[in-house]
Amino acid sequence: MPATERAWMQNATQAPIAPPIELGEPGSELLVLRKISKHFGPVQSLVDVDLEVPAGKVTALVGDNGAGKSTLIKCIAGIYSPDGGEMFFGGRQVKFHSPKDAADHGIETVYQDLALCDNLDIVQNMFLGRERTTRAILDEDSMETSAKATLASLSVTSVRSIRQPVSSLSGGQRQAVAVAKAVMWNAKLVIMDEPTAALGVAQTRMVLDLVRRLSKRGLGVLIISHNMNDVFEVADRIAVLQLGRMVAQDEASAFDRQVVVDLMTTGASTRRQGSANAAPSNTSEMN
Ligand SMILES: Nc1ncnc2c1ncn2[C@@H]1O[C@H](COP(=O)(O)OP(=O)(O)OP(=O)(O)O)[C@@H](O)[C@H]1O
Ligand SMILES: [Mg+2]
Repeated sequence: MPATERAWMQNATQAPIAPPIELGEPGSELLVLRKISKHFGPVQSLVDVDLEVPAGKVTALVGDNGAGKSTLIKCIAGIYSPDGGEMFFGGRQVKFHSPKDAADHGIETVYQDLALCDNLDIVQNMFLGRERTTRAILDEDSMETSAKATLASLSVTSVRSIRQPVSSLSGGQRQAVAVAKAVMWNAKLVIMDEPTAALGVAQTRMVLDLVRRLSKRGLGVLIISHNMNDVFEVADRIAVLQLGRMVAQDEASAFDRQVVVDLMTTGASTRRQGSANAAPSNTSEMN
């Protein structure tokens, strides 16, 4: 039994629900989805979706509007229960019943708009709902020290004071705080939905650097983006959803921009050479 798991077993009374998983070597299996499906009434949002998200790599999830990207990450993050299929995290089969359940397993999701509370400062946001106390009094010093250390470990240096309200931060700084929050709570997989959509050039740069740093730390990162520049700059792997089906997933080097756009819009690309990990072409023709 790995050391962290043994320690968890010994402390099981105060431990989160899930035993911590070990992050494997970069490229090793972290999250695996098999035949995940989800419908809303007559709308089949996801159809038998397979996805692999390795540790230590950035996987970009791309697809046109309505392709099912947000639905898929909500299934991973415990917001929706899939209708069918299996999910494995760190080699174990999992079924999440709430976002907290997913977070307890080490999956944190950074949503563009919902990530932070404007009226609270950075420390309050990072500890929201999980505040540290000593004899029923908030342990401000210890929370401040941990928040500062986490931001520093991610080289987030542009924030002037961690006691400033989040409403005073730029879009890029907010993303950085939301990511630091995820990392502080021991995330193994960080999911980001369109993290750069509302950002300018410099802030986009900062967030993409942060994404890279997360994967260098060994975490798995799953990032949704519409921006092909971002995708090709930061992704090690690319997975393409089209009308609820996974039409291709492979190393980023197996694609170019035109191929990704073709796959997003039609589910196939004549420019694409055969690839072992590509979804069979007939899956795309069913759309
Ligand atoms: N809560 C819901 N109720 C009903 N239909 C839904 C719901 N959520 C998503 N859908 C439908 O599922 C499909 C996939 O939606 P989803 O939001 O996952 O797409 P997306 O790839 O994230 O698109 P976008 O790029 O526009 O954010 C759409 O047809 C959408 O209308
Ligand atoms: Mg979406």
